[in-house]
Amino acid sequence: MVIADSVLINGGIPLKGQVSIQGSKNAALPILAASLLFNDEIYLHNVPDLLDIRSMLEILEYLGVQYIFKNGTAYLNCKNIINKRIPVEFSKKLRASSLIMGPLLARFGSAEVGMPGGCNIGPRPLNYHFSGFEDLGAKVLVEDGLITINAGEKLEGEHTLEFPSVGATENLITASVFSGRKVILKNIAKEPEIIDLINFLTKAGAKIAFTDVTTLEIEGITSLGSNEYRVRPDRIEAGTFLIAGFATKGNVRLVGVEPDDLGFVLHKLEEMGAHISVERDTIAIAYKGEIKATNIKTTIFPGFPTDLQSPITVLMTQATRNSTVVENIFDNRYQHIPELIKMNAKIEMQDKTATLCPSNLVGAKVDSFDLRGAAAMIIAGLCASGTTRVSGLKHLFRGYESFVEKLEFLGADICYA
Ligand code: EPU
Repeated sequence: MVIADSVLINGGIPLKGQVSIQGSKNAALPILAASLLFNDEIYLHNVPDLLDIRSMLEILEYLGVQYIFKNGTAYLNCKNIINKRIPVEFSKKLRASSLIMGPLLARFGSAEVGMPGGCNIGPRPLNYHFSGFEDLGAKVLVEDGLITINAGEKLEGEHTLEFPSVGATENLITASVFSGRKVILKNIAKEPEIIDLINFLTKAGAKIAFTDVTTLEIEGITSLGSNEYRVRPDRIEAGTFLIAGFATKGNVRLVGVEPDDLGFVLHKLEEMGAHISVERDTIAIAYKGEIKATNIKTTIFPGFPTDLQSPITVLMTQATRNSTVVENIFDNRYQHIPELIKMNAKIEMQDKTATLCPSNLVGAKVDSFDLRGAAAMIIAGLCASGTTRVSGLKHLFRGYESFVEKLEFLGADICYA
């Protein structure tokens, strides 16, 4: 994996060509964490090579999982897993380290995990996770940056999530796989990554069923067999390339995507004037003479995803009229806005709402502060006149595999600096 701090981009070139979409980061992470429920071997295919994935593999290795990760396949031998405290040095590397709690609790009846880190996109409490564990019979204690959870008996019962949190839903599902009798989870998150986790677990014998659109019933089983599974495509990487292709007035074809996961995003891009064609696992996007304004509010699936908010704000600066974005999921996901303003973007902010006005972006030295913001700043560089230097690439490598190389392949004038 190339790790560089910055890229240099000479903007103004429309992206053209075909690009393969990676496996989903946010599906692979909970699935990898769920390997701690297994007693056997697992083959996971279509796993993206990312810093967050490597950090998760390090945590699994620390707990006794032997792994080989090569060419997108992770082989995991889960026969010698032990339960021990996950120190903050491990947990702080990624938010998804919190996803270890559910599997350890299910398998060993207890978990000790340092508070998670991750992108600085706003306060990221774990109260929805904890109240779920508690409703199912566990005790949670947070002290000196360490989370300790104990379940005297096997978990069982019913819990209604206060908000359909993605991570809390994942943790409560994995915590319930070996439940006493059954667990009922209401108001769960329905993001495609949750469905992937459920599919992975049921393929190995877990008994998880929807009783209505937002309610799951999980019947406890005693063990999970070996498993082989292909992680679904990354809808956020796909959306990022669609936006980059359209924002540069280009013509880009994605292969290896799941178009159903992107329904609302495609609808919004069409509303903005993009020509989109979908065929099985491919999506093509083409500029047809105009980028129109639109208004977007980020929300839970199937609405517009917060993870594409920063990229689409860049596209909106290229529209012929003013657009607005309301960020409803995270409190601090506008850190790219001051950087865009350095590039001559005309943007007004009021609370959760950003108004993006038509702007001629101009190359500048800019920074990035989180994963999706890093991708957004690179797209801004592709749209700008002159040269842009984007720093802070360590964030990019957490979630996009070969992003710079893929853009180069699509014709961008971009290189590591
Ligand atoms: N929240 C709480 N309490 C909780 C849990 C969440 O207040 O106990 C709040 C969060 O602070 C946030 C909102 O609820 O304001 C949504 O959080 P959620 O739990 O749904 O998100 P997450 O599990 O922390 C995952 C993805 C994020 C993605 C969100 C929303 C992974 C590893 N991360 O985070 O991905 O933005 O769901 O879809 O799956 C990214 O990939 O760049 C990324 C940040």
